[in-house]
This record gives sequence, C-alpha cells and structure tokens, in this order.
Amino acid sequence: MKQMIRSAALLLVFAGVLAGCGGGEAGKNEQKTVQAGITKAPWGETDGKQVELYTLTNKKGVEVKISTYGGTVTSWVSPDKNGKNSSIVLGFDSLSGYLAKPPYFGAIIGRYGNRIANGAFKIGADSYKLATNDGKNHLHGGNKGFDKVVWNGTVVSDSTPALILTYVSKDGEEGYPGNLKVIVQYTLTDDNELKIDYSAETDKPTPVNLTNHSYFNLTGDVANTIENHGLQIDAAGYTPVDATLIPTGEIKPVAGTPFDFTAKKKIGLQLNDVPGGYDHNFVLNKKGDSTQLQLAAILSDSTSGRTLEVYTTEPGLQFYSGNFLDGTFKTSAGTPINKHTALCLETQHFPDSPNKIEFPSTILKPGQKYHTVTTYKLTLSGK
Ligand code: BGC
Repeated sequence: MKQMIRSAALLLVFAGVLAGCGGGEAGKNEQKTVQAGITKAPWGETDGKQVELYTLTNKKGVEVKISTYGGTVTSWVSPDKNGKNSSIVLGFDSLSGYLAKPPYFGAIIGRYGNRIANGAFKIGADSYKLATNDGKNHLHGGNKGFDKVVWNGTVVSDSTPALILTYVSKDGEEGYPGNLKVIVQYTLTDDNELKIDYSAETDKPTPVNLTNHSYFNLTGDVANTIENHGLQIDAAGYTPVDATLIPTGEIKPVAGTPFDFTAKKKIGLQLNDVPGGYDHNFVLNKKGDSTQLQLAAILSDSTSGRTLEVYTTEPGLQFYSGNFLDGTFKTSAGTPINKHTALCLETQHFPDSPNKIEFPSTILKPGQKYHTVTTYKLTLSGK
C-alpha cells in the first residue's frame, strides 16, 4: 500500500508548455508547478528485509526515485526541451533488475569507491586483506558493497524533499576494519539539483571513499550513445592507470592528450584514442577553500537541451564512458544497454589511495567526521 506523504496536487500549468505545442521558447517555459514532496512505497524484499522506493518531487514536477536497496537512484525524470519527460539516468522499475547485479546502476558505492590494488593495504603496522571482486583487485566495496545492502530510510523534509539513508557497516565487512556508521542524505531542490551529502564515523581507522554510481544519458534514451554529449572537466591532470586500472601513482597533465576536457568537447572525438575507453580519475583544479563545493564538470546534450553540472567538495572525478556495458542488461522497456550508451561522473578521492602515500589520504580515524558533498544540477535550454 502506497503511503502518501505528499498530496501531489497540480497547482498551475502555464500556457504553451504542453508537449508538442511548438514555439521557439516552449522548452524554456516548461514551468508546471506542483506541490513538492516525498512518497514512499514498498518495493519488495531481499535479505529478509523490506525494501522501499521513495519518490522525491520538486515544485517543477521533476521526479527522482531512490530505493533503499543500495541507496540507488533508479530514475530522474525531467522534461527535455520539447517538454517530453524521460529519465536521464539508467535504472529499472523493479527490484528484480537490481538483484540481477547490474554494474552498480545508480547505487551508493562504499566503503571504498573504485579499486584498491590486490585488495590489500596497511594502516600503520596493521595489514588488511579485502574481498577481491575485480580480478586480483578490490572494486567498489567488494562482493557485497553498499550498493547491495538495504539502507534505512527516513524523510527529513517534505517541502524541499530530502531523504536520509543510514547503514552500519560492521567491523570486518568485506575485510574492512572498524564499525562504520554511514549517513547519506539526498535532497532535490526546486532548482533541479540533486544534492548528496555523505557522512561517516568509525571506531577504528579505515579507508572511506563514498560516491554515487549513476549512469547518465541526457537524451533520456539508451538507444542513443553518449558520444555526442559535450563534456568539460575542470581538471589539468589525471591519474594514469596500469592494465588492471590501478593508478600508477603519477599525476599527468591532460594537455595535448585525449584526457583534455578543460574546454567543452564531444566525448566521441577522441574516445577511440583511449584504449578501452575513458575510465580514469581526473584531478580537479581546486580554488580557495577546498572544502567548498566547486564546479567539477559540465555534461551537455543539444538534442534534448539538457545540461548537467557536477559540483563537489571531492578532489577527484572518475569519468567512466560505460565501456563494459555490453547489452547483457536491458532497460525495463527491453532496450539493450550497450557500450557507451551511458556514462558515470563519480566524485571521489583517488583510486588506490590507501596504497599511494602521494595521494590525498582516505583514512578516517575514530573521532573524525567524514563529510563530503556532491550536487548534480540539471538545466534546460530551449530549441
Ligand atoms: C569503474 C569501472 C567499472 C565500473 C563498474 C567504474 O566506476 O571505474 O572500471 O567497470 O565502475 O561498472
């Protein structure tokens, strides 16, 4: 039974905004106003636990769905420049899609986003061995990372819809030391921003690197590749990797390489010049107070008129061009999800930092508070 927290009354629809009514400024004037709020609905069961699906709706009628399974963003529906609604992220409309283990679609990633070489690291004199789930390496938290557990959900605000998800990762889980209490808050603002606040505390020193693994296709249709999307990343450097995608430890300038996204460029332009495709950590340029949100990347698609800006407090951004998508998974409508039909912009500390003394530290100690913020902001330009 669907629990209604919001009365989704349509208050106002401005003239000239309905899909298909044409007119040069139709997209820009897409201004329906609805009552913002959150609804919660049961979404199946796994591990003996009830899973919920929350729907966050802002005043503009933009809707983000988040499941307590993996803290997963399952859809983000917004109008394109013609007023046609579609989701800009990959996702399924039922839990079974996620239980089939797609590659982290929309999920919260932890305890450590991206790879740790050989699943091994030391803190002081103590050595730790993690689950190895990517060849000999540890990836995205191991066999059962934060993407595959059931989080506890609480609604914190209905007017600017905000949802808090909590999870306690036990000492020894996937090989990590310490009990880690994690809080992730998703907020959907009326400016079409999805803000993600990540917080954590531990009782033993442990590596922590939380992110969200949404796959974007701004056309709203995975029948289109992302090669025509424009991308700009505010990064003068990137971290080159070895054959198993572990950083070598160097930070190389992007200038003169296919990794140069300092000015907007089509993703497809040099995609084939990067063996395997883009799957790299970009070292973000930081200005002033590095704990403040700063613009890290801008993704744009002229066919839909959609632009996505990524702001973060994090030092790095993993740009992954969906290289391993191979049609195995299909959308709920049955469209195969093929290579380069969606991309991730994962804000993060650098991969394998626990083994790279030269990278910013990812070790959280008892008494310290982990807190990072990332905001994805969607804007629309007219035809
Ligand atoms: C990684 C890829 C990995 C993908 C999982 C990305 O964050 O960088 O190497 O294959 O996640 O689907």
